[in-house]
This record gives sequence, C-alpha cells and structure tokens, in this order.
Amino acid sequence: VKVKEIIDPADKVLTIAHRGASGYAPENTIPAIELAIEMQADYIELDIHLTKDKIPVVIHDETVNRTTGSRGYVRNLTLEQIKQLDAGSWFNEAYPMFAREQYAGITIPTLDEVFETFGDKTRYMIEIKEPGSNSQIEALLNEAIEKYKLEDVVSVHSFSSASLRKLHAINPEIPLYQLVWNDYTTARVPASYLENVKTYAVGISPNFQGIGAAFVAQVKNAGLKVMPYTVNYQVNMDKAYLWGVDGVYTNYPDRFQEVIDTN
Ligand code: G3P
Ligand code: CA
Repeated sequence: VKVKEIIDPADKVLTIAHRGASGYAPENTIPAIELAIEMQADYIELDIHLTKDKIPVVIHDETVNRTTGSRGYVRNLTLEQIKQLDAGSWFNEAYPMFAREQYAGITIPTLDEVFETFGDKTRYMIEIKEPGSNSQIEALLNEAIEKYKLEDVVSVHSFSSASLRKLHAINPEIPLYQLVWNDYTTARVPASYLENVKTYAVGISPNFQGIGAAFVAQVKNAGLKVMPYTVNYQVNMDKAYLWGVDGVYTNYPDRFQEVIDTN
C-alpha cells in the first residue's frame, strides 16, 4: 500500500483523551481531565447534554443511570438534582485496580466548571450529544466558549450534521469534526459526501474498526483531517499511526504517547 506516498505527514499526531483519561479515572469528570493533562494529552474529549434548566453538563449517556447509580434522563433533571449524584463510585466498583477513595462522591461537572477550572491549560474536543432540532445547546456551548475566551482551544464534534451546521452558522471559527460510523474497513466514502462535510467541518472522526489505510488516504486527500475513535490497544494505535491519521481518541492517552515516541 503506497499510503505514505500519497498523504501528507501529519504535523503532529494528536492524542485526544476520550472522556478524559477514562481508562484510569471516572469518565467525564474533573479527575479524569486532570489525569489526561498530566499525561500530556493534546485534547480532552467531553460529551455534553442539557439539564432540564438548560445548563450544559458533562456526561456521556442521556440518562444518569450507568455512571451515578441513580435513575433518570439528564433532560428531566435540574442542575440542582444532578449535583446531588455521585459520578465516581461506579468507577471504583467497576475498576478496583484503578479505584481511589477520592473518586467517591465526585459530581457531574457543568461545562462552565470545566472551562473555569482548566481554562486554556489544555484543548477541548466537545461532543454535542443528542441535540434535538430545537435545542439551544449549540448557542449555549458557543456562549461558554466566548465567556471563558477559549476560542483558540475548543473544537467540537457530533454525529449530528444538523447540529454542527447550526453551530457553524453561529460561529464559523470553531473547528468542527463530523463523527461517522462505518460498517466496513473497505468502505470508501463518496467524494460528494466529503465535499459536503468540508462546507462546515475541518475533519471526520470515524470509528477505528470501520476504517483502513485507503479510507484515511481518501479523506486526507480530500483536504479533511481524520481522527478515529476509540483506539485503546497498542496494536491498533500502531496501525492508525501508520495509516497517517491526524489523531486518535483513546481512554489511555499515555499509551498513545508511547506509540508516538517509539515511531
Ligand atoms: O468522541 C468520539 C466518540 O466519543 C464517539 O462515541 O459514544 O464515545 O461518545 P462516544
Ligand atoms: Ca464522545
């Protein structure tokens, strides 16, 4: 495969800490972000949903069930209710080898809290989850970016092209990545699709299992960045690196740093 000959070498292959360093600490929490920064991740990936009172909070699922031991949809809970929940104990139970006493009782952070705590000490890749056609989440995200003056360090991604287009219309300066799911590694995307994505986004983030060298080359040759998720094993990190991806999302940012250092 003559991939190396037809793609530009990436300036820097980015390590994106998926939900923070979520292999080692409770996902989408302040300790997971702290750890990812310690591990020198280039970006912190975080998922956001809106509470009932329209506050962006950092949580992956649309319910609080899996990560708090409580029950309910985020959109049906107020921030005050969300803040009563324990977002760390589930991790200690599920991953005893990485459990820490201080994780018990930590709360689901608001986006503001994250931006206020870490500011421009790191870069962020924020995922807009399940936006809904009338959601205010895009405008509220842009407000938070502007409030904390983080225009230079925040990128945004989503499976929803409608949501990305909406944010692009609000603020065309924010770098956007289209999340996609491919079924087959041999999949090639229609050139017209890539041209369309280029009207609002700077890159594509596909599932690692659904891509190969040809896909990476095609997307890069179209002038888009390509950053697969979620790459947790070294053997796959090596492959992705060799294909010439621009970055990977991983729960183990330290592992990908090693791959970069040894290649
Ligand atoms: O952010 C890339 C990847 O996170 C998309 O999948 O389910 O982990 O949010 P998910
Ligand atoms: Ca995500």
